[in-house]
Amino acid sequence: MKNPPELMFESAFAEDTYKGLTSSPKYLLSKYIYDRKGDKLFQQIMDMPEYYLTSSEFDILKNNAEAITSYFSNESGFDLIELGAGDGKKTKILLKELIEKEAKFNYLPIDISENVLKELETSLQKEIPEVNVKIQQGTYFKTLEKLSEYNTRKKVIIVLGSNIGNLSHKEAVDFLRNIAQAMSEEDMLFMGFDQKKNPQTILDAYNDAQGITEEFNKNLLVRINRELEGDFKSDDFLHWETYNPETGTAKSFLVSKKQQKVNIRKLGLEINFEAWESIHTEISQKYDDSIVNWLADEAGLHMEKSFSDNENHYKNYIFRRK
Ligand code: AVJ
Repeated sequence: MKNPPELMFESAFAEDTYKGLTSSPKYLLSKYIYDRKGDKLFQQIMDMPEYYLTSSEFDILKNNAEAITSYFSNESGFDLIELGAGDGKKTKILLKELIEKEAKFNYLPIDISENVLKELETSLQKEIPEVNVKIQQGTYFKTLEKLSEYNTRKKVIIVLGSNIGNLSHKEAVDFLRNIAQAMSEEDMLFMGFDQKKNPQTILDAYNDAQGITEEFNKNLLVRINRELEGDFKSDDFLHWETYNPETGTAKSFLVSKKQQKVNIRKLGLEINFEAWESIHTEISQKYDDSIVNWLADEAGLHMEKSFSDNENHYKNYIFRRK
């Protein structure tokens, strides 16, 4: 059953799942964690004390709102475009500051989830009604195409939450290059990158005591069961996190606790797991200035400024086109 015809698959999820589980070593793609349940679990993760990324970035924005928004504002007005906006909790700090400054701008949050965007729109209406907001539903890929259509005035593109960390360095360069190509000289990219730090702090963030991250990771199996008629038993897999301080790569795995067979009816697939065989599910890359400079350089960007929290756990960078 190697290289099955594309027609055999009902969706990209089905095809990617087939590929990942018939590969050696086995893997699944982390983007598929985010169905309705996965979105909820990620919200819970962002509220956990161990998941320092959220509060670190929040502090950076809070403590530097004036300086950051000074980079954004101009005389003739600008478009503030946010990729992967989510609930906009952190962005609201910047929006409030911009309104206080009486900056001229439109806020264009882009997210894959229409649901999330509608909620964001409603909460903005209530909390900062002065903001001129136009929600945009779409994938990152589609969005990047659309970006270059916004070329009548300055663009400030923001990506918060270290979302880039789910990409390999090669994918990250491609992503940044796509953004760079949509930028003109006066445009700006403002982006969050989680930093290398005490390995224990990182392991704790991705292996919380309550088991929320475990449930988040295992949501991949739950989703396969529901959408592809699989019969994974979540309890027969272990959530396992590793961090390599040399490369800065945190990796999540699901490890089979025993030899077992799993059926996925819609894929016509029976998969064998040996005892302690792994499925790689996610990478969460950690960075330092030299890695960020290298990625930016490869993508045709220039780092202009960085902001960090007191502990240097996290940084937000401002980039311009080279
Ligand atoms: C949304 C990609 C930034 O990798 O830190 C959180 C996702 N995974 N806990 C991250 C995630 C496990 C998160 N990002």
